[in-house]
Amino acid sequence: MSTSSNRSLQRREFFSLLSLSWIALAAGASGLLGLVFRYTFPNVRFEPDLEFRIGFLDDFKEGVDETYKKTNGVWVVRAEGKLFALSNICTHLGCIPNWTPTTQTFECPCHGSGYYISGINFKGPAPRPLERYQIKKNADGSLSVNKGKVYRYEKGQWGLVGSEIQA
Ligand code: FES
Repeated sequence: MSTSSNRSLQRREFFSLLSLSWIALAAGASGLLGLVFRYTFPNVRFEPDLEFRIGFLDDFKEGVDETYKKTNGVWVVRAEGKLFALSNICTHLGCIPNWTPTTQTFECPCHGSGYYISGINFKGPAPRPLERYQIKKNADGSLSVNKGKVYRYEKGQWGLVGSEIQA
C-alpha cells in the first residue's frame, strides 16, 4: 500500500474517532443535563387545597352534585333539607364509588359496597358510612368545604355544626 493511501486511512480513522468522541460527549452532557433537570424539578404531586369554595346554596339542586368529585374527591349532596359534603372514598378499601341516579345510591365497583344518598352503607363489605367534610357559609354567603375536618356517622358527628347546613 502506498504512503498516501495509508495517510488517507489514518485521517479517516481519526475523523471517525473524533465523531464518536463528539457523540459520546454529547450523550454524556445530555445525561448530565437530565440529572440537573430532575434535581431542579423533582417529582412532586400538587394536591388541591383542603379548603375550597363551592359556590352558593342556590347553585345546588336536590340530589348529588358531582362537580368536585374528580378535582377534590367530594360529592355535594342536597337532600332532606340539608346540604353536606360527602367523601368519595369507599370505607372498605378506598376505591371510588359511582353515583347511580336510577337507584339513588353510591355503588362501589371494587367489592360491591353500596351507600344511600345520605352516605350510610347498606350492602357489601363497607364497615361504616362515607365520611362527611366540614361545610360552612362564608361572610359573602358563599359556601366552602374543608377536607381538613371530618365528621363520622358512627361517632355521632353527623348533625354537629359544620357537618351540614340547612338547605
Ligand atoms: S373498596 Fe369499595 S367495596 Fe371494597
